[in-house]
Parts: sequence; C-alpha cells; structure tokens
Amino acid sequence: MFTPEEFIRTITGEVRKLEVKCAVAAVSGGVDSTTSAVVARLALGDRLIPVLFDTGFMRLNETSEIINSLTELLPIRLIDVKDEFYRAMINLSDAEEKRLTFRNVFYNALSRVVKDNDCDWVVQGTIAPDWIETTGGIKTQHNVLAQLGIETDKVYGFKLLEPLKDLYKDQVRALARYLKIPSAITERQPFPGPGLSIRAVGKLTMEKLEVTRWSTRVVEEGLSGLGLSQWFAAVWEDDRVTDEELSSVIRGMGENLTVDVFSVKGTGVKGDSREYGRVVLVRGKLSNWSNAFTLYSKLTYGTNVTHVIYELARRRPSGGYFVAVRAVVTDDYMTANVPTLNEQLLRNIANELMRSELISAVGIDVTPKPPATIEFE
Ligand code: XMP
Repeated sequence: MFTPEEFIRTITGEVRKLEVKCAVAAVSGGVDSTTSAVVARLALGDRLIPVLFDTGFMRLNETSEIINSLTELLPIRLIDVKDEFYRAMINLSDAEEKRLTFRNVFYNALSRVVKDNDCDWVVQGTIAPDWIETTGGIKTQHNVLAQLGIETDKVYGFKLLEPLKDLYKDQVRALARYLKIPSAITERQPFPGPGLSIRAVGKLTMEKLEVTRWSTRVVEEGLSGLGLSQWFAAVWEDDRVTDEELSSVIRGMGENLTVDVFSVKGTGVKGDSREYGRVVLVRGKLSNWSNAFTLYSKLTYGTNVTHVIYELARRRPSGGYFVAVRAVVTDDYMTANVPTLNEQLLRNIANELMRSELISAVGIDVTPKPPATIEFE
C-alpha cells in the first residue's frame, strides 16, 4: 500500500545520497511537477531552483495564476520562452513532429537555465503513465527521456531526477495533499506539457492557437464542477467531407445520420498500438440523446477511425474552425470513459462558442480511450 509518509522518507533519503551541486526543477503548475519539486526541495533546500516556462501554449492567465498559488511553497522564477517555441513550432502539422519539437526546445531551454545557474541536475515530474505510453509507442510525452535511452548528461549537460516516476496520478494527488500543496494544484485537471500546441490540432497557426485558448476557457467554465477528470476544447479547420461508406455503417443503427470526415488526423490506441487515424463527425437527429455516446463503437471497430464526434451546432456556410469538446472520466489516465453529459448543457456551451465568427461548428467527442486517446494529438 502507498503511504505518503514512507514514500517521502525513502525518496528524500535517496536524493540526499546523490552528489547534487544544484538542481533546476521544471514546474508547470500541474500536480506532478509541483509535487516533485516540493519533494526535491525537502531534500535539497535552497539548492533547488524551481522554474516555470511560459511556452506560449498555456491557457488564459495561467502563468500568473500558477505563480500566485505557489508563492508560499516554491520561489518560482518565470522564464519567457514563447518566441523560441513559436519559431520552432508554428506551421508544424504532424502530431509526433510537434511533440518531438516541443521536447527538444523544452530541454534546450532547460539546459541553458542549468548552465546559467551553474547547476548539474534537473528535477521533473514524470509519472508512470507518461513513460509507459511513450515507451509503448502511443505518443511521445514531453517529459520522457531516460526511459527512451537518451543520456541527458551527454545530450543536454544535466542529470535527471524523477522522484515520482513509479507513481500513478491518484498516488501523486495523495502525496500532494499530504504535503499541504494548495487544492488549486492538487485537484487541478491535468494539462499536457505541450499544452495548447497539441490541442490546436493539425497545422499550428497563431490564429488557431488563439481560438483554442479562448475555446478552452469557455469549455473549462461550462463543464466545471461536474466531477470530470479532464475536460477541454480542441480546434481544427472545419473542412469536412461526407463519407458514404461510414454513413451507411451508422445508418444501420436505425438513425437518420450522416458521417463527415475531417482532413486532420487524431491519435488513438487500438490493441495496445498507436493509430494516427481519421477524425469523423456524425450529424443528424437522434431518437434518444444517450445514443450519441454509443456512436463510436461501429465507426472505430475494424476501421482507422480514432475519434468520433457528434455535432452540436453548425453555421452555414461552414469553413471556419471546428471546436471539439472533450470530457472524460478516469482514475489512471491509461483508459478513460466519456460520461453521458446533459444535452442542454452541451448545446449552451456550443452556442457560447458559436458567438465567435471564426468558429463554424461545434461537437462533442464521444470516444473512450481506447480506441481514442484523451488528447487528439
Ligand atoms: P493521452 O492523450 O495519451 O493522455 O490519453 C493521457 C494523459 O496524459 C496527458 N498528456 C501529457 N502530459 N506531457 C504531459 O505532461 C505530455 O506530453 C502529455 N501528453 C498527454 C493528457 O492530458 C492526459 O491527462
């Protein structure tokens, strides 16, 4: 059984035995990286330098909110690396290319901070699902290096300390609560390191990034307080084309429905393997609202479809951005379910999003993990 007290005793004992001149802790404001920095600080004291990168892919006001909620706990330095990330990532389209580029820019920036402060270690909040999914080839998480055989001291000039690498999310939250980390952090929904860069799906542009930032705020507010594990918006071009074959599959379910396919691809996991497949939209009237949440099974089975979305609102002519609302319930984030959300609540959120002239349609992703992943990229 996991007990925070025993875990802290063991891990701080191990860290004190290491030869550490000083360590930079990469904090994102999430529960994993914050808890790992707090644990490392117990062992290293002032030899720990916590930093928060403003990558440009954070949510509205996120960096200042993080700094404010952690002032008592960690003396965090905010480092603006937006230009570096934008230069490397704007115009990239492929999900893994974005993720690998993000990882590279992130560690180069960290390496600079390590050198500037004459340090020799980096502390990061990698947890078990991060490296399990990365080494399993599902997707490259931004904070996994050692488990892929990358020798950080040779490539980036620092040694890596990952105090939470064998823990799962519920254990990290228990540890964070024990350490009296503010509930704004311990209960916060996960936000991936590459942030909005992987939620502005497909080709990354500044305009799409800003639409994603605004849509994220609308969806986060609209679905708060429902006990969901993770809920957010993802945005891409509304360039759907009707697919007759998939439409006939879904009509077999006895509903008057049509299936459109977008040109972007979405990441899924089928039979423990990565699938970078089609993202489809089902539109039409349902005889029963809860049927929306079972639409995915016929469309993903035996096909390369990874995400199935049910349309909530559409403007004609379309051709602007499509916003997908994503909401899941999970304990370990290795698998996840989509709960049957209230129809009126979702339609209200869709109407709010449609107030933006740039958005031409909105839908709800109804695909569990597997066969989808939680994020689209
Ligand atoms: P997926 O999309 O693989 O996500 O089902 C599982 C959980 O991991 C989060 N995630 C990440 N977290 N760096 C992170 O720190 C990443 O690169 C990353 N990619 C996905 C995702 O938000 C979900 O909670």
